[in-house]
Amino acid sequence: MRFNTKQIHAGVEPDPVTGSILTPIYQSTTYVQPSVDEYLAKGYSYSRSGNPTVRALEKKLAVLEGGADCACFATGMAAIHAVFLAFLNAGDHAIVSDVAYGGTYRLCTTVFKRFGVSFDFADTANPDDVRSRMRDNTRLILTETPANPTLKLTDIQAVSEIARPRGIPHAVDNTFLTPYYQRPLELGADLVVHSTTKYLDGHNATVGGAVVSRTPELNEKVRFIQNATGTIASPQVAWLTLQGCKTLSVRLDRQSDNAMAIARFLESHPKVAKVCYPGLASFPQHELAKRQASGFGAMVWFEVRGGVAAGKKLMDSLSLWTLAENLGSVESLVTHPVTMTHADVDAAERKRVGITDGLVRLSVGMEDAEDLIEDLKGALDKI
Ligand SMILES: Cc1ncc(COP(=O)(O)O)c(C=O)c1O
Repeated sequence: MRFNTKQIHAGVEPDPVTGSILTPIYQSTTYVQPSVDEYLAKGYSYSRSGNPTVRALEKKLAVLEGGADCACFATGMAAIHAVFLAFLNAGDHAIVSDVAYGGTYRLCTTVFKRFGVSFDFADTANPDDVRSRMRDNTRLILTETPANPTLKLTDIQAVSEIARPRGIPHAVDNTFLTPYYQRPLELGADLVVHSTTKYLDGHNATVGGAVVSRTPELNEKVRFIQNATGTIASPQVAWLTLQGCKTLSVRLDRQSDNAMAIARFLESHPKVAKVCYPGLASFPQHELAKRQASGFGAMVWFEVRGGVAAGKKLMDSLSLWTLAENLGSVESLVTHPVTMTHADVDAAERKRVGITDGLVRLSVGMEDAEDLIEDLKGALDKI
């Protein structure tokens, strides 16, 4: 089966009792067991340990990413936290991309650090930097590519080739491109992490997360944490995400086309100082973007001339673009990472990795590109 067919049919089948074409929302805490000897005969005991609606989403995401299995979580952060808990112990060291979602950085520096785990935030765009930070106690590499918000790319294959001979799992946060455009497991990664909140849901309706594993053994470790910590996704969220997945490719293609049109418009505007989009020839890692993914995605960032004040004025002047935290949905959103998504990243570290005070992040939606451009043009005229 090809991707468009899989995104609709994988993991789901008509309800055996009623024929309902959609997997029902199994809103039940517990599952009646036929007898003590046949405990778990139908596979379910208690909804913290597994739920049929959540299971359908797990199966679909495993197929889409090409993994052995998947575990779904209450949020993307719960999924990342599960990977840390599954593969790190006190005294261990992990390497994490130096540009990543602010919550990932916060989880490392304020939570796991308290439990004796040390982190190196590496320039994972440079495999030599990753190699040079490996220690005897390194037990996990987590990369995010494209990274939030600067869109810096990691060469997934190159980093996997560093991790694999040492037996260290390489986890890739694939939230920005989804399995439709990028499949890290095929490039040698061991685990794929998602905030399903973003493109997989796609409608600003849920928060959720997922970890897809290359092998059943890796999945068992993650699933154990899902049950032990009680961070499984809810059936309603899983159901909404199942519906979102069915239109993933159509949404992403249209959103990416819009993003390319907007990036080109911004590049040609005299008040714009800098534009960043992996699909532009000016993007520093354009060749890598073409090589390891089949699309460029729908995230764009830019800086305006006139500094931070001009950038803030622009964001406040937009009317069709909504100022909000989130990305990946059909609605176009604008975000100021320094005050919003990355406020908890140390200011010096932000500066070092290029998250500038004037950076304006766009999550391009499915509206008509012309309307989105007209709104941006109107706001640029005001600064
Ligand atoms: C790349 C990436 N990973 C993980 C997360 C965390 O996901 P959630 O907000 O669903 O917890 C986010 C949130 O913005 C993100 O952008």
